[in-house]
Amino acid sequence: MNSDDPNPQTGPFLGVIFGASGDLAKRKLMPAIFNLFRDGLLAESFAILGMSRKKMTDDAFREKIISDMEELAPGELTAEMKEKLLPHFFYISGDVTKAETFSRLKSRMESIDKECQTGGNAFFYLATAPTLFSPVVHALGDEGLINEREDSWRRVVIEKPFGHDLKSAQQLNHDIQIKLNEKQIYRIDHYLGKETVQNIDVLRFANGMFQPFWSNLFIDHVQITVAETLGVEGRGGYYEHAGALRDMIPNHILQLLSLIAMEMPISFGADDMRDEQVKVLRAIRPLHGEDINHNVVRGQYVHGTVDGKDLSAYRAEDNVDPSSMTETYVALRLAVENQRWAGVPFYLRTGKRLARRVTEIVVEFKKPPFTPFRETTVQSLEPNQLIIRIQPDEGISLRFVTKVPGTLLKLDEVDMDFRYADYFGRAPATGYDRLLYDCIRGEATLFRRADMVEAGWLPIAGIQEAWEHSGDSLTEYASGTWGPAEADALLSRDGRQWRVYV
Ligand code: BG6
Repeated sequence: MNSDDPNPQTGPFLGVIFGASGDLAKRKLMPAIFNLFRDGLLAESFAILGMSRKKMTDDAFREKIISDMEELAPGELTAEMKEKLLPHFFYISGDVTKAETFSRLKSRMESIDKECQTGGNAFFYLATAPTLFSPVVHALGDEGLINEREDSWRRVVIEKPFGHDLKSAQQLNHDIQIKLNEKQIYRIDHYLGKETVQNIDVLRFANGMFQPFWSNLFIDHVQITVAETLGVEGRGGYYEHAGALRDMIPNHILQLLSLIAMEMPISFGADDMRDEQVKVLRAIRPLHGEDINHNVVRGQYVHGTVDGKDLSAYRAEDNVDPSSMTETYVALRLAVENQRWAGVPFYLRTGKRLARRVTEIVVEFKKPPFTPFRETTVQSLEPNQLIIRIQPDEGISLRFVTKVPGTLLKLDEVDMDFRYADYFGRAPATGYDRLLYDCIRGEATLFRRADMVEAGWLPIAGIQEAWEHSGDSLTEYASGTWGPAEADALLSRDGRQWRVYV
């Protein structure tokens, strides 16, 4: 959103949320609607219609929203807010595998549209099991619910995971495009809504000083770390089939990579941006056969102790097979094969139950080819690094070498540090506020286009296939550590190392 926009409010709309009694709706969607409402960004004429199998009246749904909000953000929902906001919420129960549900949905939508003056505009948010994405889109289509008129829009928001491999993602795109025009489809990747992720373009393209250095001429390598301290937190059923590779790489982490590596788009318009992101994703060399052994590490957490607390092994989690071969950690070395990045490795790692929660991108510059500081510590110092802290402690720092004050010539590394919290005070939002707002405004830049989703699966298709046939390369790591030692070797073999957190 441009702050100079004279009319930052959305137009009238009705949002239908499938899976409204679930965790995503509770933790992310309802708080996002609340934030947008509080910030005055929603039209006066809007309504949210929750749907799930659970039977509930409108009033019971409104009560649930109040108690969820009080649990998540105590005290935020004032009496005045409650009075103004809650009449916008409605509820309908139903089984989405039955056609009858959609005819009831249609008449309920028509009556809410009249009552709340939502102008025939509607989005459908599929916060459901992925197996329901295509059937729900088809049922909406059959009932005529996604037909747009000249003066009104209909959009469908689809959560991740979008497919479980390249083939299923292609199939899902094909299935939903039978009913929907690509412009009506909003595929969510909540990383793209994160404030610090949106800032990557600004950092690169609004600052003249970085542009000349942004290539293999000056950059030695790039590291992307998405480390979590949490385990699978009751999502064992989902995670057993996903694993760290599918769960994080083709979507969140490759989105980060594409933003770091893309060429400058001719504008920040949705298609111009996404065209450039897709090109980079397609330039990643897919890993196959022997390459996988040299460039990929996968691990699974076993028990460990963090802050004196005993943490159980992945295999002991609920809904997890006691002999599971699902990876909870993955590290990769990827090559982007184009003129700008030839020879610059991109090291990616992500895992659960690691030592610290941190999502960061490290751009490490080459050491100067010659330095005149003979007999000083300069040779042993680390190269310059630009560190983009996505979360937590959002910010950017630049590490460089400086002289230690004193008579003798001694050098050391220091950080020039920018923290969002210091400059802007407010903690950046989770991403869903911005994404919902953009969807309602018809702004698709931060959503994944069909070709982008498919391009995300391409680099890892060979790895998925290889792992299906061999279960022997899974390494254990203790909960609360930085993952398997093999992941350190992935870099040390190249004379590099992961950024160390102290
Ligand atoms: C989700 C994954 O998409 O992203 C989760 O399914 C992961 O496994 C989560 O924990 C991480 O998101 P965030 O915003 O907490 O970094």
